[in-house]
Amino acid sequence: MSEQPSAIHSQWSSRFAFILAATGSAVGLGNIWKFPYITGENGGGAFVLIYLLCVLLLGAPIMISEIMIGRRGRQSPINAMLALSREAAANPGWRYLGWLGIAAGFLILAYYSVIAGWALDYVFKAFLGEFLDRDAGEIQSLYTHLMADPLTQIFWHSVFMAATLYIVMRGVNAGLEHAVRFLMPALFFIMLFLVGYAMTSGGYQQGLHFMFHPDFSKIGANAILTAMGHAFFTLSLGMGAIMVYGSYLPPHVSIAKTTFIIAGADTAVALLAGIAIFPLVFANQLQVGSGPGLIFQTLPLAFGEMTGGWLFGVLFFVLLFLAALTSSISLIEPAVAWLVENHGHDRYRASLHAGLACWLLGVGVAFSFNIWSQHKIFNKNLFELLDFLTANIMLPLGGLGIALFAGWFMRAEHSEEELELPPEQFRIWRALIRYVAPPAIILVFLHALGVMG
Ligand code: TRP
Repeated sequence: MSEQPSAIHSQWSSRFAFILAATGSAVGLGNIWKFPYITGENGGGAFVLIYLLCVLLLGAPIMISEIMIGRRGRQSPINAMLALSREAAANPGWRYLGWLGIAAGFLILAYYSVIAGWALDYVFKAFLGEFLDRDAGEIQSLYTHLMADPLTQIFWHSVFMAATLYIVMRGVNAGLEHAVRFLMPALFFIMLFLVGYAMTSGGYQQGLHFMFHPDFSKIGANAILTAMGHAFFTLSLGMGAIMVYGSYLPPHVSIAKTTFIIAGADTAVALLAGIAIFPLVFANQLQVGSGPGLIFQTLPLAFGEMTGGWLFGVLFFVLLFLAALTSSISLIEPAVAWLVENHGHDRYRASLHAGLACWLLGVGVAFSFNIWSQHKIFNKNLFELLDFLTANIMLPLGGLGIALFAGWFMRAEHSEEELELPPEQFRIWRALIRYVAPPAIILVFLHALGVMG
């Protein structure tokens, strides 16, 4: 998070600091781990197209709204919503949006931490040279062994959670900013490099075709819901994380411009990840729909074959771990802030309590890949259930609330004052947030219900 704008010259550095923090939150496992595997599961091109449309038409205007509410409210989400609903003479019940966000962040982090733990395990696999000269079957069995081993998963999950809590407790945000400053270019570089490798893999044309050739016959209501949910997930929207970051943004910084920088960087990383991974899938006759293990079964093959692959493998999984870490902080921050504000905890105790509860739920998630894999609710194991509930239900619901509040309850003069957009751009934002985002989210929900019910 940024320092408060005090000196005259801190303006630019604060805007930049905000962009770094928000990009750090947005770019994470969602881009590199989740986007490719859900694209694979949902048939490719048409899914990608719907996801991109959701980012542009729902994600961007809602991100603008969330940052705006944060900056105008100048407090943690619950209190910001309370203050702004007073200002708008609206029902103070809007603060429950903040509650929904706290719950969503908590539930996401429980499984996010387990997956980030896999990345840590792969740092060591890469370091020990376990990917060198392996065929697809051998790489696959490295993954299935990890899945069958709850203790190893719990160990790395614990390490990741401890790292997250350490940062949240100490509030070492300055260190974080420096980390993101080198992390994002490094991530970009290595993704580009992997794309370069993918071009030579023999499956490049097929991979591109899969990702960018829309075939709408492969898309059902659930795929649309997943694409929309992922737009929220990948941009860290709908739970107040970006709102918290926005509350540190100095006045007169263009919210719309920063939004496009953040959303653009986030989308670019996701697309690069897909372009790097799918050619490997086709070149090695793997399954596009192999689920959460997709990157762990494809990229190690590349690292095993390419020159310098040992180094790039270690580097990639370290970067993935760091990208997850800069995201996980924003997932637990709202819960910690709430414990501090409303329960009189100090930051240390608040982080410890929230973190322990989250860790425990994560242990259940680690079991859901092995000993509990047959325990299902609504035909989903614990991991799938948490993922579905948060990404596909809670985040879009939170986004809907934010859109309704910003579009229909906040006074137009107030949002105009915050956004400082040229009139025609303001009108576009306002039309999207009033007439496009809310009905679109509701329609996608209803459509999915109709099919599932
Ligand atoms: N956006 C992150 C990712 O793609 C995950 C994340 C961090 C998130 N903070 C969030 C998702 C808040 C939703 C809400 O990996």
